Amino acid sequence: MTFPPAEHATAQAGRIPPPGCPAHAATGTDGATRLYGEAAATDPMGLYEELRAAHGPVAPVLLDGDVRAWLVLGYLENRDVASRPTQFSRDPRVWHGWRTGEIDPATSPLMPMIGWRPDCVCADGEEHQRLRGAVTAGLGQFDHRGVRRHITRFAHQVIDGFCEKGEAELVGQFTEHLPMLTLIHLLGMSDEDAPELVHAARDLFKATETSLASNAFVLESLERLVTAKRAHPGHDIASALMAHPAGLTDEEVKHHLRLVLLAGYETTANLMSNVLRMVLTDPRFRGSLAGGQMTLPEAVEQVLWDEPPLMVCPARWANSDTTLGGQEIRTGDMLLLGLAAGNVDQAIRPDPAAPVHHNRAHLSFSAGTHECPGQDIGRIIADAGIDILLTRLPDVVLSVPEESLTWRSSTWARHLTALPVSFSPRPPRADDGPAPLPAPPVQSDGVPPVPPMPPGAPGGARRPEARASWWTRLKRLLGGG
Ligand code: HEM
Repeated sequence: MTFPPAEHATAQAGRIPPPGCPAHAATGTDGATRLYGEAAATDPMGLYEELRAAHGPVAPVLLDGDVRAWLVLGYLENRDVASRPTQFSRDPRVWHGWRTGEIDPATSPLMPMIGWRPDCVCADGEEHQRLRGAVTAGLGQFDHRGVRRHITRFAHQVIDGFCEKGEAELVGQFTEHLPMLTLIHLLGMSDEDAPELVHAARDLFKATETSLASNAFVLESLERLVTAKRAHPGHDIASALMAHPAGLTDEEVKHHLRLVLLAGYETTANLMSNVLRMVLTDPRFRGSLAGGQMTLPEAVEQVLWDEPPLMVCPARWANSDTTLGGQEIRTGDMLLLGLAAGNVDQAIRPDPAAPVHHNRAHLSFSAGTHECPGQDIGRIIADAGIDILLTRLPDVVLSVPEESLTWRSSTWARHLTALPVSFSPRPPRADDGPAPLPAPPVQSDGVPPVPPMPPGAPGGARRPEARASWWTRLKRLLGGG
């Protein structure tokens, strides 16, 4: 990789702090900027602009462990990289870093983002088409009205959990639940399995001490799902993946179910949090939503331009030497798609304050052959879920000053940590709680099968009240009742 020498980068940047300044920690030994650590976590958008000013549309950066990569900041350059799979591979095995020992695969926190797995994300060409064809068929089988119906049911149930209290924390109690409940359902998991799986999958993202056990639990649950659906297929993603002529093995099916869950969950939860924050804090949005000048789908699109749920998308690897945005890219170099930076590139958006209305040309779902196949589902979950919340709680307001809201950032994404709100208390929609769900399948001994939670995983082994309503169990697991 041909990084500019440190002194060259410093002179160009102009804004790089003098030695001794604490902000120096943002710079690695060769002058490349760290895309992790305090500076990146505090003000990622500011960091991208510094990089753009210093290097132009493609900048050298360092990932966790000072692993080298190029961050693509330009809108056109991002589209170029995403749309030329022959030049820029999606297969991590192309990276020279594996051979040079730049990373320790056993310990690096980058592995979940850049490690190879048998799924469509890590494939190019015909193999990508084979795997992705099965995924798009699985996602495409649901008509939008059907998906909306499920979301409506889940949204009402989640809101029923807090509407009587007159206050709620919408990230922990709403936006982190709805996408997971919906995705689990679309995958084909029974509602009976939902509570522990929702809890484990959310825990997996939080990198806590129980994350490994939670990851194992998610994989075991998906394995059980594959076995169950081989015997009794249904109208769900798992069954569609198996039935697809691409002939996915059980291992491939399991990895694609996990991919859908992971690719769809956090991104959609982030989108919902960001849209809700905007609706609650920006007087133009709240006023115009009420006055009918701006629809919720328009607000969603505005947020997708301004605050992409995935700010930096991993990754592409150069199949051969090339030039991009004035930088010399060498064979095997890693490139990251700077989706958030590309969306505010002056070359295509001279006035970032101008409303985008229905323009969907942003990079938030990436572009090219790997462009997100679940974007419509993500949009529907956000749109329908927030619509129901605002309809049920029309006087909902933020209960803390906007300036006190905080974010948790990583190299890849920025999450709102909490969104405390208040509203007039209202009774739950249905007096008797959520609609009864189908009874779990009964084994020959008459006992419903109870998948064990791994030791140490949240929820622990299933408790005797496994037959209690799944909704009651979920509320208990999440500390809400
Ligand atoms: C608002 C929510 C979402 C956002 C912002 C988002 C964004 C993205 C992005 C940026 C990529 C990477 C594309 C690339 O590597 O170039 C991606 C891939 C993917 N997304 Fe989404 N996504 C969202 C929701 C969903 C949902 C709900 C699902 C499934 C139901 C989903 C399934 C996938 C899959 C399977 C891939 C891999 C596609 C491939 O490699 O061919 N996403 N998404």
